Amino acid sequence: MKNTPVDYQAVQKVIQAYGLPDFGKATIREVVAISTELEQQTQTEFIHMEMGVPGLKPAQVGVDAEIEALQKGIASIYPNINGIPELKNEASRFIKAFMNITVSPESCVPVTGSMQGTYASFMVCSQCWPERDTILFIDPGFPVQKQQITVMGSRYESFDVYEYRGEKLREKLESFLSKGNIAAMIYSNPNNPAWFCLTEDELKIIGEMADKYDVVVIEDLAYFAMDFRKELGTPFEPPYQPSVANYTENYVLQISGSKAFSYAGQRIGVTAISDKLYQRIYPGLTKRYGGGTFGTVYIHRVLYALSSGTSHSAQYALAAMFKAASDGTFDFISEVKAYGRRAERLKKIFTDYGFRIVYDHDLDEPIADGFYFTIAYPGMTGGELMEELIYYGVSAISLSTTGSNQQGLRACTSFIKDHQYALLEERLKLFSQNHPL
Ligand SMILES: Cc1ncc(COP(=O)(O)O)c(C=O)c1O
Repeated sequence: MKNTPVDYQAVQKVIQAYGLPDFGKATIREVVAISTELEQQTQTEFIHMEMGVPGLKPAQVGVDAEIEALQKGIASIYPNINGIPELKNEASRFIKAFMNITVSPESCVPVTGSMQGTYASFMVCSQCWPERDTILFIDPGFPVQKQQITVMGSRYESFDVYEYRGEKLREKLESFLSKGNIAAMIYSNPNNPAWFCLTEDELKIIGEMADKYDVVVIEDLAYFAMDFRKELGTPFEPPYQPSVANYTENYVLQISGSKAFSYAGQRIGVTAISDKLYQRIYPGLTKRYGGGTFGTVYIHRVLYALSSGTSHSAQYALAAMFKAASDGTFDFISEVKAYGRRAERLKKIFTDYGFRIVYDHDLDEPIADGFYFTIAYPGMTGGELMEELIYYGVSAISLSTTGSNQQGLRACTSFIKDHQYALLEERLKLFSQNHPL
């Protein structure tokens, strides 16, 4: 029996009731269920760092546009599957303004969140060539994307990029791509769960490899412009959100409304397909669908089959948010910088009590403070640490569920409340006393 903030026996009982053979492999939803149950049962407040849900108010400009559109009666009409012109035009302009990349409005397609964008991209990419049926994950990554592959009965391969930063990435990618079975590769930048950002040199390597092996790169920009080390928020002025699109035309970008605009609830994002890829004809697509290009199959076959388009009013919302951002009247980055300030404070508390940041550098530069960070405690596996912290009322997910080979946890800053820094400090102090180094 230990002097832990959450009753020791209560924790053991609840965890046992879930019948998990390895607690370290618990999913985010299981960790949420366990911590919420314990919170209610023991009346002890938990510091929830497991879920990657926006903790800020949705951008008002989006809400207003959506209400206005609804009041005009658009709810009764099926949205055009290609996307409303307002959103297509503003998406193209937004990509120019904040990435300095040119994608025509035609190639910017609304999706019901990046979640649908990656699902549709995995499908189309793995149908292009009969012999290429596998998606390569540059991990760590967002676990649900692997679940998407499982749902569609497809295949994936992956590697933890921790050991392969910089020039080492080239050889590693080559070892996978040279086998001839990879249809596309995917990564998120900034990275979920580790918040590192691939450098320009690394993106260039990925672009070069994509061209050499004619493989599509799916660049998941769920945390668009949220590398707060750089001032990425001034439209049409550098610095810009880095992208593989500067180095190859074999790309599909996923831009989500969920985090940058705190608009997760309405399920809205944009897939931007390079103009060249959009127009390209692939043997596998011609055989399967009787015709079509990458872009038209993506929209008229796959998205049509999945959801018949994207909610009309949410498209108006995203169009308005993109427009206001590109016009310079809505500084979306300043709003989400709150996450960076939280991460800085939280990381200090963790490291003061013996924890270390696992993915801590982009080569020689310390990583940014943002939505997530990763922590480890000497001598403990990720699974052990995740379980042990539950006794201290702190919940986070193990990196092992993200394709990482490192022992540690992902902590998310989005649900942290102002009074919880002191609470975390108190609990970690006790934790470090109980686990002397
Ligand atoms: C890396 C990554 N990709 C995609 C998503 C999903 O985004 P959306 O809400 O646009 O479907 C998330 C959400 O957490 C994410 O972290």
